[in-house]
Amino acid sequence: MRIDILTILPQLIESPLSDSIMQRAQNKGCIEIHLHDIRNYSVDKHNRVDDYQYGGGAGMVMSIEPIASLIDKLQQERSYDEVIYMSPDGDLLNQTMCNQLSLYKNLIILCGHYKGVDERIREHYITKEISIGSYVLSGGELAAAVLTDAITRLLPGVLNNETSALTDSFQDNLLSPPIYTRPPKFKDWEVPPILLSGNQSEIEKWRENKALERTKKRRPDLLD
Ligand code: ADE
Repeated sequence: MRIDILTILPQLIESPLSDSIMQRAQNKGCIEIHLHDIRNYSVDKHNRVDDYQYGGGAGMVMSIEPIASLIDKLQQERSYDEVIYMSPDGDLLNQTMCNQLSLYKNLIILCGHYKGVDERIREHYITKEISIGSYVLSGGELAAAVLTDAITRLLPGVLNNETSALTDSFQDNLLSPPIYTRPPKFKDWEVPPILLSGNQSEIEKWRENKALERTKKRRPDLLD
């Protein structure tokens, strides 16, 4: 898979994508991530990528030309399955969406800033708008990093234990059960004895019950 991220702040997104699982996924060739600085496509002699709003109003708007010429260039080089705009008014990201996106070959992710992008970009280039939550970030970069991470860990070969992404919370609409490691007793807090019993089928039953109990209590909406 290849993801092209379009941003005015590439440095903001570099670090979360160049460590740990994200780094390993790229080193293993499971994913190629390309960061593009929109400023390099500015048509303004001062390298501006934003302008005042028509009709007045507070806040600048990301200009159409630099973004359009960058997307045009990328689309001439290969075809993209989706051109995604990270925005608080997009569809709320969930695991099902991540699973679907992880099946694609090429994605563009555009990060917004200021008041957002010129509406014509959304009308003519964007095929999907995604929000990572009902709150407003200073820009789309952190949201793009979240989306890229959530997709990458689903790609074949990324996680050492192939079952590990499948047993994540949300994959079966259930939260994960509680987990423990050594020591078996800390202060007077003990690990549930069933987990030390060696009885694998009873352990699985216990985990299923706990996952269901936790989901009912914390996220009943997932069971609807
Ligand atoms: N840009 C600003 N806020 C955002 C959010 N909540 N989700 C995605 N992109 C954003």
